[in-house]
Amino acid sequence: MPVPGPGYSITVRVDAPPSSTAAGDLTSAVGRVGGVLTAFDVVESHPDAIVVDLSANVLSAEHADDITKALNDLPGVRVRKVSDRTFLIHLGGKLEVAPKIALRNRDDLSRAYTPGVARVCQAIAANPEDARRLTIKRNTVAVVTDGSAVLGLGNIGPAAALPVMEGKAALFKKFAGVDAWPVCLDTQDTEEIIRTVRALAPVYAGINLEDIAAPRCFEIEARLRESLDIPVFHDDQHGTAIVVVGALRNALRVVGKPIERCKIVVSGVGAAGSAIIRLLLRKNPTDIVAVDINGTVHPGRSDLDDNLRWVAEQTNRDNLAGTLHEALVGADVFIGVSAPNLLGAEHVATMAEDPVVFALANPDPEIDPLEAQKHAAVVATGRSDYPNQINNVLAFPGVFRGLLDAHAHDIDDEMLLAAANAIADVVDGDRLNASFIVPSVFDSAVAPAVAEAVKSVALREQATSVGA
Ligand SMILES: NC(=O)c1ccc[n+]([C@@H]2O[C@H](COP(=O)([O-])OP(=O)(O)OC[C@H]3O[C@@H](n4cnc5c(N)ncnc54)[C@H](O)[C@@H]3O)[C@@H](O)[C@H]2O)c1
Repeated sequence: MPVPGPGYSITVRVDAPPSSTAAGDLTSAVGRVGGVLTAFDVVESHPDAIVVDLSANVLSAEHADDITKALNDLPGVRVRKVSDRTFLIHLGGKLEVAPKIALRNRDDLSRAYTPGVARVCQAIAANPEDARRLTIKRNTVAVVTDGSAVLGLGNIGPAAALPVMEGKAALFKKFAGVDAWPVCLDTQDTEEIIRTVRALAPVYAGINLEDIAAPRCFEIEARLRESLDIPVFHDDQHGTAIVVVGALRNALRVVGKPIERCKIVVSGVGAAGSAIIRLLLRKNPTDIVAVDINGTVHPGRSDLDDNLRWVAEQTNRDNLAGTLHEALVGADVFIGVSAPNLLGAEHVATMAEDPVVFALANPDPEIDPLEAQKHAAVVATGRSDYPNQINNVLAFPGVFRGLLDAHAHDIDDEMLLAAANAIADVVDGDRLNASFIVPSVFDSAVAPAVAEAVKSVALREQATSVGA
């Protein structure tokens, strides 16, 4: 039975009698129909009535209706209003632009704007690198989407994607002080997206691509990386790959297996799976077998696009043609970034001793984590209500902080691996166990550690290329 979480939370304002039992009656009514009460506030008190705000986590709109009815059915109680607390925090959006300078008088205006600003413009025209020193470019990242693969919602378009991109921008600021801005494009044409991002790039010191569907996302990223002099990162690919590789390093420490001796099955070869495979290959596992909706990926398949062909060439040493269940036999690690409910405990039982299972499909994983735990030594999911949450927030804020601080012009696998190691290292030996392979997203050590790791690789590479 699912438990209501804070993602769907309501506040019900009720008139109630001022009796000594009122509080108990109200809270019991919410609990009886399965609501999780999170706050009880008396907002008005009169001789003959009290007005109470009851906040509760619920499962769905129908569940909210059940709670409203249960409260209305109490003698002397009247529901005045039901507010959805999630919608309330989105009213008017979640971001604003605030000037960093005072504009109090004519002097201030003359320096911040005309005529003084003209000299700053001329300095940048003479030396374009000065844009990083003298403008918002220094600390600003574009969060670019076409709205084609938003969360688990699919192709919902650019306007509907905006609440997610605003949230992403808020996380950038909160966790790493990066000023990120949503750029939701009203086109899903690869060429037009590339052209548009190139055209708006001068304002930004980095591009974070977000929720753009595979396989289009691969070409967009590759072509933008080729043509722009700022780093281009696709969080659904690289953010996921960083956290998965970092978490896997710690999971393998728990079970005492070197990755070089592991057979890894990756289910899902879309945005996340492809990037995970590419980064894992850098760690030289014994073998990786990739599986998508049509079975294992091998060169004999007739439906391979460029991405799948590359994966087929680099993985699956034995050219295994078959199903996910067949591929899993004897594997040390399962990484799922595909679809819900593909495995049962009986399939995990066919894996090697002390298997590691990362079931990351959201919101419902490839296997119920409780089932996986019957045979797996370490289990991770993308969910916040289980241990070992694989959450990209561990990676992207620190990655961009490091890139911006290094004035990086690009991003490469060395930086992604450095970020993965930094996340893994935050979990020191004393704290590491099967239920704690990744730090909490609220661990304030994570973003600075990731930033420092990325920055030091970027600076080292810059020094090498200057010396070369
Ligand atoms: N941090 C995280 O937990 C995290 C990060 C990224 C993605 N994800 C989850 O991973 C999943 C995939 O994300 P994506 O962006 O790569 O999507 P995508 O659409 O780009 O790729 C999906 C892949 O899954 C494969 N697939 C679909 N049904 C399958 C099945 N029945 N058996 C085997 N393979 C199947 C598809 O063939 C495709 O290769 C989503 O559920 C997403 O929420 C989780």
